[in-house]
Amino acid sequence: MKQQYIMALDQGTTSSRAIIFDKGGNTIAVAQKEFPQIYPQPGWVEHDAMEIWTTQASVAAEVLLKAEIDGDQVCAIGITNQRETTVVWDRETGKPLYHAIVWQDRRTSAYCDELREKGYADTFRKKTGLIVDAYFSGTKIRWILENVDGAREMANKGRLAFGTIDSWLVWNFSKGQLHITDVSNASRTLLYNIHTMSWDQELMDILGIPASMLPEVRQSSEMYGYTEATLTPYRIPIGGIAGDQQAALFGQMCTEPGMVKNTYGTGCFMVMNTGDKIIESSNNLLATVAWKVNGKVQYALEGSIFIGGAVVQWLRDGLGIIRSSGDVEQLALSVKDTDGVYLVPAFAGLGAPHWNQYARGTAVGLTRGTTAAHLSRAALESIAYQTVDVLKAMEADAGIRIAELRVDGGATANDLLMQFQSDVLNAAVVRPKITETTALGAAYLAGLACGFWKDMDEVRTQWQQDRKFEPQMEDAQRTPLLKGWKRAVNAAKAWAND
Ligand code: G3P
Repeated sequence: MKQQYIMALDQGTTSSRAIIFDKGGNTIAVAQKEFPQIYPQPGWVEHDAMEIWTTQASVAAEVLLKAEIDGDQVCAIGITNQRETTVVWDRETGKPLYHAIVWQDRRTSAYCDELREKGYADTFRKKTGLIVDAYFSGTKIRWILENVDGAREMANKGRLAFGTIDSWLVWNFSKGQLHITDVSNASRTLLYNIHTMSWDQELMDILGIPASMLPEVRQSSEMYGYTEATLTPYRIPIGGIAGDQQAALFGQMCTEPGMVKNTYGTGCFMVMNTGDKIIESSNNLLATVAWKVNGKVQYALEGSIFIGGAVVQWLRDGLGIIRSSGDVEQLALSVKDTDGVYLVPAFAGLGAPHWNQYARGTAVGLTRGTTAAHLSRAALESIAYQTVDVLKAMEADAGIRIAELRVDGGATANDLLMQFQSDVLNAAVVRPKITETTALGAAYLAGLACGFWKDMDEVRTQWQQDRKFEPQMEDAQRTPLLKGWKRAVNAAKAWAND
C-alpha cells in the first residue's frame, strides 16, 4: 500500500492554505494563496465567498503536486477555518447571495446595541456563552436577510443555506451533498445552545433566522463524507472540522483542563481548556465549545483580540513603513524602547475583555522625536499588552495563576515580541517546534477519525518544545509600562464614547 498522509486545509482571514502532514506530524508540503480583503465602508469587511472556495480548492490540488502524492494517499482531510465569517447561499444554484461578511465586520453594531437595550444580553450569554457583539455570525445572517433583495422570501421558502466557512467549503467539496458544521463553529453563531448542544429556537426567533437555513451540527472528528469536486480523480474523505482557534488548542495538545494557548494570527486568540465544565465568565471572556471527539464534549474559555498580527500588516500596507512583515523586528530593535508611545490597534473595535464596538485605533505619547521605529515597536508591544489584559481576565475567571502560555502562529517567530510578551505577562511563554498548530490540530482531528493515528496518546507524544521565554523584567519596570497601556486603552475608549 502506498504511504498515507493527512491533508489539513486552513482557511484563514487573509489566505487559504493546504498542508500535508506525515505520521510523525511533520509538514511535508505547504501551498498558500492570499485573497483580497474588501472594505466597502469604514468598519465593514467582506470576502468574496467564491474566491474563498476557489483559492482553497486550488491550494488543495497544488499541495498534492508539491508533496508528490496522489489523492488516494490522503487518509482524510481536516478543515479548519476563520470562525464567525458568514456565508448565505442559494441551495439550488449554490451561489452566495452576498459576499461573506467577515468576523471583523462591525455593520451590525447598532443592532447589537438594540438587542442589549431590549434586555437580551443575558439570554444569549447564558445559552451560547457569548457576548452580544457584531463579531458573531447571528446578526450578520440577519443583516443579509434584511438587506439583500428577495433574501427573506427565499429563506422562508427554505431555499437558503447559512454556513460558516467550514460549511461553505464542505458544501462545495461535496458538490452540495453535505450541509454540515462542527460543534466548535456552531458555538460561534449566537444561535447554538452550548448546554443542550443544539440550535436554539428562542435565539433563532429573536434574530429572525429560520431553522431551515442552519447546517447539521456534527462532531469535530468523524468521517463526514467525501470530496466530489475535481480536486483529484480520487474521492478523499473529510474527517475533521474545527474553528481555527479550537483547532490550534488541539494542535497545541492543550487537552487537559487549565491548559492555555495563545495564537498570534490576524487577531490574537487566547483559549483555555475547561474540560467538561462551562465557565461563565465574570470578566467578559467567552465560554465556547472546544470540540467534540469520540462523543465527548470539551469546553473552553476564550479571550478574542481582534487585531494582533494585522497591526504589522497595517504598518506594511497602510503606512508603508516596512516592506515585509518580517522587517518589523529589525526596525523595532533599532530603538531601545517606544519612547513613551503606545498604539492601541482598535481598528475593529476592542474585543476581550473590553468589548467596545466603537473604539478605534489610537496612538498616544507621540512627540516630534517619534520615528517609524518607535511606532513599529509600539505596534508590536500592543500585541503583547492586549494579551496581558486577556490573561488577567482569564486568571480571575478560572481562579488560578497561569504560569505558562503555549504560543503559536506567524508572529511567534518574532523573538523580540515573545520575550516582551513573557516580560509583561510575568509568565513563561512556550513556543513549540511546529508552530503550524492550527493546521496540525485539524490534521489530528481528521487523522483520529480515519485511524491514521490510533488515539490521543499517540498524538500527544508529538508535541515538542522549541523555546521557552522566561520573564526577565523587574516589577519596577513592568508596572509603569502596564499603567501606561491602561491609560492608552482608556483614551481609545474615551474617543469612542464621546
Ligand atoms: O474568530 C476569528 C478567528 O477565527 C480568525 O482567525 O487566524 O484568521 O486570524 P485568523
